[in-house]
Amino acid sequence: MRKPLIVGNWKMHGTQAEVSQLLGGLAVKAVADSKVEVVVCPPYLYVAAAAAQLDDSAISIGAQNLCANEEVQGAYTGEISAKMLVDAGCHYVIVGHSERREYYREDNALVAEKFLMAQRAGLCPILCVGESLQQRDSGEALSFVAEQLAAVIDQLGISVFADAVVAYEPIWAIGTGRTATPEQAQEVHEFIRDTFAERDKGVAAGLRILYGGSVKADNAKLLFAKPDIDGALVGGASLSPDGFSAIWQAVE
Ligand code: PGA
Repeated sequence: MRKPLIVGNWKMHGTQAEVSQLLGGLAVKAVADSKVEVVVCPPYLYVAAAAAQLDDSAISIGAQNLCANEEVQGAYTGEISAKMLVDAGCHYVIVGHSERREYYREDNALVAEKFLMAQRAGLCPILCVGESLQQRDSGEALSFVAEQLAAVIDQLGISVFADAVVAYEPIWAIGTGRTATPEQAQEVHEFIRDTFAERDKGVAAGLRILYGGSVKADNAKLLFAKPDIDGALVGGASLSPDGFSAIWQAVE
């Protein structure tokens, strides 16, 4: 059985004081032996503080990005390596978020390199895929997602997905308040699982596929009722302990 996974992506939000308050609120809400796995991904600067503050809670830590060039260390000014993230207490890392693809020109090849570096260091990559509104309207959503998945599968093989997570995040639903309907999301999630199943049924059956894009407590239940939606990647609503915990409680 796939254990549901709820990941909070804080993006570039928070001060030290706000982060400490948010973590304090989350630590109180976290339930040991929960049926749901919960992860938060703070900005790099706050990763170590989050790991320390959530140390004996049931919540684990992820990062939002990593260096593609080198998994350990090297002359890459301004970068953070996968090993540094592990050292700071991370277990997960988001790769290929649409904001990084769009604003930082990360292409499929770079995303595949980041995925590889993450796994080499022992991190579980959360690979983000998803189409723009224009692609959806012109009927290209599935073929675009297939292309993004193929870029990693062709480069690294199917077996790397035994220790990875995929997040389907339609760009038009991110931060817009416009969630994909449960049916729209399920259609793509099923397509993603089938894409993996064509190559390896075991990997496909075990793969956790998260939905992301304006997930909130009030739409979470219907999304999670769909057979191929195994959790959520949550942006805005993960910035409040009440809002975020209501989402994982919806899965429970
Ligand atoms: P949102 O962001 O929940 O604010 O739409 C989701 C994401 O970008 O991961």
